[in-house]
Amino acid sequence: MSSKMWSILLGVVTLASLSAACTPSVTTVSGTHAPVTVCSGALIFADDFYDLDLEKWQHENTLSGGGNWEFQYYNNNRTNSFADNGVLYIRPSLTSDQFGENFLSSGNLNIEGGAPADRCTNPQWFGCERTGSPDNVLNPIKSARLRTVNSFSFRYGRVEVRARMPAGDWLWPAIWLMPAYNSYGTWPASGEIDLVESRGNRHMFSNGLHIGTQEAGSTLHYGPYPALNGWERAHWLRRNPAGYDRAFHQYQLEWTPDFIRFSIDNVELGRVTPPNGGFWEFGGFNHHNVENPWRFGSKMAPFDQKFYLIMNVAVGGTNGFFPDGVANPTPKPWWNGSPTASTDFWRARNNWLPTWNLNINDGRDASLQVDYVRIWAL
Ligand SMILES: *[C@@H]1O[C@H](CO)[C@@H](O)[C@H](O)[C@H]1NC(C)=O
Repeated sequence: MSSKMWSILLGVVTLASLSAACTPSVTTVSGTHAPVTVCSGALIFADDFYDLDLEKWQHENTLSGGGNWEFQYYNNNRTNSFADNGVLYIRPSLTSDQFGENFLSSGNLNIEGGAPADRCTNPQWFGCERTGSPDNVLNPIKSARLRTVNSFSFRYGRVEVRARMPAGDWLWPAIWLMPAYNSYGTWPASGEIDLVESRGNRHMFSNGLHIGTQEAGSTLHYGPYPALNGWERAHWLRRNPAGYDRAFHQYQLEWTPDFIRFSIDNVELGRVTPPNGGFWEFGGFNHHNVENPWRFGSKMAPFDQKFYLIMNVAVGGTNGFFPDGVANPTPKPWWNGSPTASTDFWRARNNWLPTWNLNINDGRDASLQVDYVRIWAL
């Protein structure tokens, strides 16, 4: 028998033994990098970041500020995202490095590129074109947001991301999941799963609690419309006096047809096991005169549909994630009600920029560092 025939035979035998070993899973998947068959317990998506695979990770290209008037411009540029020695770095930099300082208060930034990979990914909130003015400077920080929106989305599974949070005043790293198809309508009706968020300030206190690098949180957002969002009943924080910026930790999600559970380093942070009335009952929405968008879904709805993964470093914003009146070595430079927040922030750069250590060790302190992403089927 020729060696080619042997390998075909071997392949057939291997396939046969694999299929015999495959217990079907409740997990479902889609996307260009999703496995054809999902076996219970199998690793269904992974990246160890020995390179930055743009087939898996689509970059956002937008000025939109995440709906919170955050101060960053997300772009696809190896200054702001790169893989080095098995670690993904998402690193903020100054927009003025590229365009000059005057451009911020007078330039026109149109990021609608011609090539398919250069298209603006989010036009909402003036996301594709802005003109700077002295009162409203153009997004002063460049950063990156990567997502598996085309490559991989899944419903139910286990996620583990080994990551190190950035340090630097007003940095807002996040590793989270968004619904692939908005099956129950637009945000937050189709849900949002925040695996981990933190704040980069090394010494920031609110009511005596360290709410900077020593705190990490997980949250579910869900509700019929933005003003009716039950996140406060599904929000957990953990404190680590060593700081989440000082070492890598495992951020874990277990998502089943019965519950959603968040853990850090295998220690449970919080979980929701919705009652028979589902997240409608859990969120206390039955007391409101609104139609339940999840009434034809399972009790896990809206978390019974496929989600994709996102990783980013945002900066600031006016939604209150950085509360007014926090105690920080230098005061918070903008009020959350300020109509000139980006300018207020930029003017105070002599306060926050030194805390980012961009000139030390290639800016690694201010980078969200991701060692690996792993997702398993249930
Ligand atoms: C990438 O970012 C760097 C630093 O801001 C900038 O100098 C460079 O021009 C950017 N490259 C492109 C192609 O935009």
